[in-house]
Amino acid sequence: MNKPTFYITTPIYYSSGKLHIGHTYCSVAADVMARYKRMRGFDVMFLTGTDEHGMKVEKSAKAAGVTPKEFVDEILLGEGGILDLWKLMNISYDRFIRTTDDYHIKSIQKIFRTLYDKGDIYKSVYKGLYCTPCEAFWTENQLIDGNCPDCGRSVENAEEEAYFFRQSKYADRISELIGDYLEPITRVNEMVNNFLKPGLEDICVSRTTFSWGVPVDFDPGHVVYVWVDALSNYITALGYDNDKYHDFDKYWPCDVHFVGKEIVRLHSILWQAMLLALDLPLPKKVFGTGWLLFDGDKIGKSRGNVIDPIILAERYGVDALRFFLMREYIFGKDGNFTNEILITRINSDLANDLGNLVSRTVSMVEKYFGGTLPGERTSGEYDNELILMASNLHKVYEINMEKYAFQDALADILKVTSRANKYIDETSPWVLAKDDLKKPRLATVLYNLLEAIRICTVLLQPFMPDSCLEIFRQIGANEELSLYESTATFGLLPKEVTVVKGDIIFPRLDLEKELSMLAEC
Ligand code: ME8
Repeated sequence: MNKPTFYITTPIYYSSGKLHIGHTYCSVAADVMARYKRMRGFDVMFLTGTDEHGMKVEKSAKAAGVTPKEFVDEILLGEGGILDLWKLMNISYDRFIRTTDDYHIKSIQKIFRTLYDKGDIYKSVYKGLYCTPCEAFWTENQLIDGNCPDCGRSVENAEEEAYFFRQSKYADRISELIGDYLEPITRVNEMVNNFLKPGLEDICVSRTTFSWGVPVDFDPGHVVYVWVDALSNYITALGYDNDKYHDFDKYWPCDVHFVGKEIVRLHSILWQAMLLALDLPLPKKVFGTGWLLFDGDKIGKSRGNVIDPIILAERYGVDALRFFLMREYIFGKDGNFTNEILITRINSDLANDLGNLVSRTVSMVEKYFGGTLPGERTSGEYDNELILMASNLHKVYEINMEKYAFQDALADILKVTSRANKYIDETSPWVLAKDDLKKPRLATVLYNLLEAIRICTVLLQPFMPDSCLEIFRQIGANEELSLYESTATFGLLPKEVTVVKGDIIFPRLDLEKELSMLAEC
């Protein structure tokens, strides 16, 4: 039987500079979801990539004295570049698209021509505020103090021939449907009130003031507007209008596009209008994610906060960073990032709670039973509560994961690990160990702890894949016991399980020391 499919995308990242922790946040979230769906038996297509055209790249390349292609190659493939970052962060994408890929360029040209032939793209005159030295058109809103936002010089009214896309034609249909595909609801309201109710205008979809873009093949001198080029990646990467790939019918419509809140408009209005114009089904979901703020700003190298994910991942571990991003912030809302919040969270949840639970439990099995539990059991007080919590955990987890409430999914897992830590205090294994007659009770307590750890670890896998493998190794769980289905049953570890003591998985961090160290990065 064919597996159900799940198609998930991140935005394609601009190749104009280094990526920071904010970008990493979006990719980690998509990766967690992709891994979760794979664990649930889905045939997943996880797409990411780079957005490599546009005036900004052209200018940056010029300033660096290289060609635009050389410039974007370095950002992507160079040391510490985007591919290195995703490898380090364990981002398990299935496909990677570059908008400079030949097949993509040809598909964009076909899409542009199809829409032109249909009458949904037409030639007209673009009027705007023009900065001559920068050769760029700006809108009133983009100006800074009435001047060009790039060079600060004055702008003047100017006009040029350009192609327009009939976005207005699809306004009613989008207004009817947007509530079905866009989340969270705050974004729906924003789109309806700010853009749909005032009325959608047609949008200029070609430029002549720079050349680093997809050429309009039937009108030399015009390049396709970067957003038409960029948004289409979600279908060209599946083989739409090209022969490079052949799984458009299998994966489209997309199950979910994760996109930052500032690009929700393009993903929930322009993209839908383009798809409607192409007679294609709309994505099932567009989820607008919040921003990580650095001292209140979206992006900033503010006061000693390290926003380079490579530095943080190398120092604290990839999994600790992935966990932190998903645990600390409500997906869909903004949240503040500081080094202090990061270290504190790693200490409280990973070092003191989960890590401590694993290391205490494994150590006790080693200390009291030489590493292998005996088969006799005696149940007792407190067992049922822990067993019930652990065996029901997957139910709430599933509900939260399906609605992208990663923070809640993790909070529920941590409730079980905290409960297990408390169970150790309540049952006092060190007291039981003093009395040989109580060995079966001691074995029961330790077994229950191992099982609670196992169930939590199965569910943590999408968040911290490598650390979970290490926990499974330490608690003696084989691959079969790491499957999602195994979380519904408490008691699957062999009765006479053997543990393997290992390194501390999440060492406790010295806050003051770390903060001063990071301040120097
Ligand atoms: O927008 N916190 O690319 P991009 C959270 N190329 N997310 C952040 C963030 C922050 N501080 N900073 C950036 C583009 N992001 C286009 C997309 S898709 C067809 C084209 C997120 O590199 C941002 O919100 O500027 C966006 O979702 C993603 O990183 C890529 O941003």
